[in-house]
Amino acid sequence: MKILVSGAAGFIGSHVCERLLGEGHQVIGLDCFTDYYSRGIKEANLAGALSVSSFCLCEDDLNEASLDLLLDGCDLVIHLAAQAGVRSSWGEEFGQYLHHNIAATQKLLEAMKNFPGLRLVYASSSSVYGDAALFPTAEDCLCRPLSPYGVTKLAAEHLCRLYQQSFGFSVVILRFFTVYGPRQRPDMAFHRFIRAMLEGREIIIWGDGRQSRDFTFVNDIVDGIMAAGFREEALGQTFNLGGGNQASVNRVIDILQDKIGVKARVVYREKARGDVRDTLADISLAARLLGFAPRFGLEQGLQEEVEWLRTVIDAPEK
Ligand SMILES: NC(=O)c1ccc[n+]([C@@H]2O[C@H](COP(=O)([O-])OP(=O)(O)OC[C@H]3O[C@@H](n4cnc5c(N)ncnc54)[C@H](O)[C@@H]3O)[C@@H](O)[C@H]2O)c1
Repeated sequence: MKILVSGAAGFIGSHVCERLLGEGHQVIGLDCFTDYYSRGIKEANLAGALSVSSFCLCEDDLNEASLDLLLDGCDLVIHLAAQAGVRSSWGEEFGQYLHHNIAATQKLLEAMKNFPGLRLVYASSSSVYGDAALFPTAEDCLCRPLSPYGVTKLAAEHLCRLYQQSFGFSVVILRFFTVYGPRQRPDMAFHRFIRAMLEGREIIIWGDGRQSRDFTFVNDIVDGIMAAGFREEALGQTFNLGGGNQASVNRVIDILQDKIGVKARVVYREKARGDVRDTLADISLAARLLGFAPRFGLEQGLQEEVEWLRTVIDAPEK
């Protein structure tokens, strides 16, 4: 199959490209290399994919790209491109979130109107739930995002559903719960913690550290994306993808101290606006229709991220 992956140079996108290429697909990776974090990191993310002849990189913004040309002959679009990050979505930066999360998705959907039968997998986020009323949180739980980022991810979900209803698109929406592992973005907590511990610096935790997340190893997320892209039962559905590794931030620090063998120097700061208290996914729908069964426990996943960061410790930080 021929597959367009938007956000291909990012953390999750680069893993998705490698899996698709490994399974023999032809992949067009689209990415505009936003400056949210360094270009060097994104180039390193893409090194594996670029070494495969059936991969082609298109450096362009979804808002500007010649999508008619790129989509021609494609069977599937995996739409991961976005401005990520909860804390930076307030204030003046919100324009970036509108541009990359909402306008870019609308541009893609408009272009897809010319290609009936093309399937879209859209990467949404647990951030759409805000402080959920129920745990574990199922997909039909009321969505009340706590951050402007979450609002833009939810708006783009609605756009996908709207085009599905109005133009008969084949859409699958996936809500990822805090993804971690090798190539994790440098602004994300585990990356910051591990790097600071390896470099002997302080760790800043926003809040009391008792906030918890359902952490999901990146290979498990890729498994879910693959099933969403290829299984018939997935069509028209919205799925949570969570790793089943709910832990507090303080617990993560304890595990990292054991793995790295140094005592963390933690500084607690006031809780950040937009951060939810807890997340925990109900993945029963994904288990039933996608065969989703996360394989990586937190200890193993953290070990892999530590090993990866040890090898790139000289890489530029955001
Ligand atoms: N990492 C997580 O824990 C997590 C959790 C929930 C949802 N998500 C979603 O998963 C997706 C991937 O996240 P990630 O952590 O890999 O982020 P990332 O920032 O590493 O990757 C996103 C990539 O998209 C590119 N991009 C952004 N806007 C673009 C545009 N308009 N045109 C072309 N390229 C563009 C960026 O340059 C970047 O390389 C995002 O949609 C994000 O909202 C991630």
